[in-house]
Amino acid sequence: MWNQTKAARRLSVQYPVIQAGMAGGVTTPELVSAVSNAGGLGMIGAGYMGKNELETAIRAVQAQTEKPFGVNLFVPETPQATDAELEKANELLNPVREKLGLKKKNIKPAASDPVFYEQIALIERYKVPVCSFTFGIPPQSVIEQLKSRGILLIGTATTVKEALLNEEAGMDLVVAQGSEAGGHRGSFAGDFEHAMIGLMALVPQMADAVQIPVIAAGGIMDGRGILASLVLGAGAVQMGSAFLTTVESGANRLHKQAVLSAAEDQVVVTSSFSGKPARGIENDFIIEMRKHEQALPAYPIQNKLTQEIRKAAGQQENPGYLAMWSGQNPRLSRDLSAGELIRELAGQVEQLMGSHSDMVL
Ligand SMILES: Cc1cc2nc3c(=O)[nH]c(=O)nc-3n(C[C@H](O)[C@H](O)[C@H](O)COP(=O)(O)O)c2cc1C
Repeated sequence: MWNQTKAARRLSVQYPVIQAGMAGGVTTPELVSAVSNAGGLGMIGAGYMGKNELETAIRAVQAQTEKPFGVNLFVPETPQATDAELEKANELLNPVREKLGLKKKNIKPAASDPVFYEQIALIERYKVPVCSFTFGIPPQSVIEQLKSRGILLIGTATTVKEALLNEEAGMDLVVAQGSEAGGHRGSFAGDFEHAMIGLMALVPQMADAVQIPVIAAGGIMDGRGILASLVLGAGAVQMGSAFLTTVESGANRLHKQAVLSAAEDQVVVTSSFSGKPARGIENDFIIEMRKHEQALPAYPIQNKLTQEIRKAAGQQENPGYLAMWSGQNPRLSRDLSAGELIRELAGQVEQLMGSHSDMVL
């Protein structure tokens, strides 16, 4: 059967479809459990979650499904910014703060807190079946610790080189994040411009280079995208934008509407919101900050500087200053439940395969 790929067997799921961990409130326990209950792999986007929030989310998912699910984490980064760089960035953001009725500020974010290790401890304690990472490869001690508990590990790669590094480090599967993908780029070994590889080129090159199963991500919205990915050599797909607009998703209503009504040429890459390149729907903030992008501090510093702006934009229902991440395929987004989406995706693949639906990919 098309769906019983090696990746699906390793993940113990009926369909090789992973709902991307999407940090920032999108992946409610209802979304994650609905995906897992429908035969996909639901994933909690825990990148920004503190200890209590993650514990509550894991328990809520476990209460709503007995099927496997995952938690997605950000590998911590600790860039430095001088006082002068922070002052400059705050100066650039002050006109935006004023537009939203916020006070001018000179925010100097504190050094990162050790939340990552608390997140890892929870994943172990609650025996979360799958843990995925982006923005790099976690320390070897973390990889060994989680694997010794039987937790399956997924890394993220935007180039073949990054996939090989993930494999060498002991990841069980690797996401091939194509340049079409919504949200932050997972690039970590080399500059981001050279790692903007389209999925159609990335998947077969990666599948040829590594032994571990490759999970295709970026612009996959329906059965056509899934089957094409499997034919190119992927063992599963990871979909973000398609699940963002589902009923159970916790995305801001304005964000959902923006994705549902966007076209492919409205989706751009910006680092102005967080200091790390990410793909989303172009709005006033992206346009106003574009010429200053190079002067802004790196992730997560810039992310902390814009936190209050994004929050105020949400409260004021002002889509001009919200980060509205989306992949390059928004015209295919739909407003339906996550379970319906999974069932439709499976039906579409089967229909496309016609009489070959027993094909083993
Ligand atoms: C709103 C949004 C938030 C995202 N947050 C994360 C995240 O926290 N961790 C992660 O590994 N990937 C994140 N991604 C990227 C996805 O893992 C995946 O690469 C991407 O969604 C694939 O492209 P698509 O959106 O066209 O399906 C996010 C994507 C979106 C759209």
